[in-house]
Amino acid sequence: MSGGRLWATSDLHVGYQENREIVAERLLPRSAEDWLIVAGDVGENAADVEWALGILAGRFARVIWAPGNHELWTPQKDPVQLRGRDRYDHLVEVCRSVGVLTPEDDYAVWTGVGGPVTIVPMLLLYDYSFRPAGVPTVEGALKVAYEAGIVATDEFLLHPDPYPDRASWCAERVAATGARLAALPAGTRTVLVNHFPMTRLPTRILRHPEFSIWCGTERTADWHTRFAAAAVVYGHLHIPRTTYEDGVRFEEVSLGYPREWKRHGLRRGLLRDVFPDADPIPESW
Ligand SMILES: [Fe+2]
Ligand SMILES: [Fe+2]
Repeated sequence: MSGGRLWATSDLHVGYQENREIVAERLLPRSAEDWLIVAGDVGENAADVEWALGILAGRFARVIWAPGNHELWTPQKDPVQLRGRDRYDHLVEVCRSVGVLTPEDDYAVWTGVGGPVTIVPMLLLYDYSFRPAGVPTVEGALKVAYEAGIVATDEFLLHPDPYPDRASWCAERVAATGARLAALPAGTRTVLVNHFPMTRLPTRILRHPEFSIWCGTERTADWHTRFAAAAVVYGHLHIPRTTYEDGVRFEEVSLGYPREWKRHGLRRGLLRDVFPDADPIPESW
């Protein structure tokens, strides 16, 4: 076992200059053996994603990326106008070109502090199943959200091509990823990494509950126990915190927009330690 630590972050949103500066200057490893998980929403433009992940790959012994919804947008101003799955495939190649692991690569096994554990980056998306109580259909949930004035930009910029809709893309990803996880040797401990929450619980504190439909899928509600998660790492909500379900620790690891991290003062640090209880770091560090 090495003495390195496993760190995680997400929602770097480097389109914001102040976030760009944090990536450029402040996201640093503690030792040459440290790894970093980046759980999506690095940015919107493909060149920004390459810039940020390239910098981080040069600092950490290994970087593992799972895409967020923002990477999957096709913004008008991005010279890369690929949509949907083609855009994701392109980003996978971008990651490989800078040495970053993706959901399409073999799962890496972390053997440092807290290991051995298999790190599983995933693209699972959402399927509008986190609906309000008493609203049985996707159409009904979208109507409730639109009427409340809460509409995710994904509806306009995250194209599902070649799938008919984002829920269909999600269904395909959940099926393929679940099969891959089920094929791991019995007893394999995992760190599940997904941009979107894997269970509904973290969305219960959203200021606008209507937004939940763009946040995950009920299909992964038991994955943390079914696939022996030592920890679950996610982002997307921009509400950094720790929750427990069935004894498993769920870490929301987002940086968030400047107005958000200025409000909470980065009191949890710039990077989240995935295994803080194994060989704890002294307070003074
Ligand atoms: Fe985000
Ligand atoms: Fe997001």
